[in-house]
Amino acid sequence: MFGLSLAFGYWSLEKFLRMPLHVLSHPLGAHVLTHLRDKTTKPALFRALSYQISLLLALEATRDLASVEKTIETPMETTTGHVLAKPIVVVSILRAGLGMVQPFHDTFPDVSVGYVGLERDHLTAVARSYYCKLPPLAGKRVIVVDPMLATGGSAVQAIDAVKATGGKEIVFLCIVASPEGVALMQQVHPEVPIHAGALDRQLNAKKYILPGLGDFGDRLYGT
Ligand code: PRP
Ligand code: URA
Repeated sequence: MFGLSLAFGYWSLEKFLRMPLHVLSHPLGAHVLTHLRDKTTKPALFRALSYQISLLLALEATRDLASVEKTIETPMETTTGHVLAKPIVVVSILRAGLGMVQPFHDTFPDVSVGYVGLERDHLTAVARSYYCKLPPLAGKRVIVVDPMLATGGSAVQAIDAVKATGGKEIVFLCIVASPEGVALMQQVHPEVPIHAGALDRQLNAKKYILPGLGDFGDRLYGT
């Protein structure tokens, strides 16, 4: 009688049932993350490690991509295989999200890239939008990438922009998530799966993730 929309205050049973957080469980992911966290890791290695863990996350986040049958000729005979059914769009939250884009270009056949520029205020930790350029999103798998899900404010704003541009099949990828960021995402965008390299303990008073890895953008670009 109540179906799936039985309500508990803000939460509905439907939203409660859709709280997809996937934490990477590959041992290579843990290895790479440990070196990313290490404060002695220099920007060149940091960028290489970001590439590696983003590739692992990209593969996890695209396991369920649709494919279609394709008949081809091998040098031996005719056979039927499968190819990806539709292109993907990666939306990078500037600036640190740029460190997660290249593995998509290198691995997937047809990728377009959008950008959402957001910067947290140093005092309030509230993100301010300074740029947004998104390709057509309707009918595409949209993968929003940002290495750090801290308060969740940046991810929520970026996904708001993606939805406003017609994106519906949305996935969010981050390298480190905080419980606070995951909770905000699940409150505001409960249908968006989150793929994280790790779920860390908490935020500190300045809204940085603990144990975390510091300021990702600064470490990526040596600033
Ligand atoms: C960092 C990070 C995320 C954001 C996460 O960006 O790359 O975008 O903070 O924090 P939140 O979940 O609390 O919103 P920052 O604002 O430092 O900008 P940058 O990428 O240009 O360094
Ligand atoms: N942004 C970062 O780069 N690191 C954090 O820990 C939080 C936000």
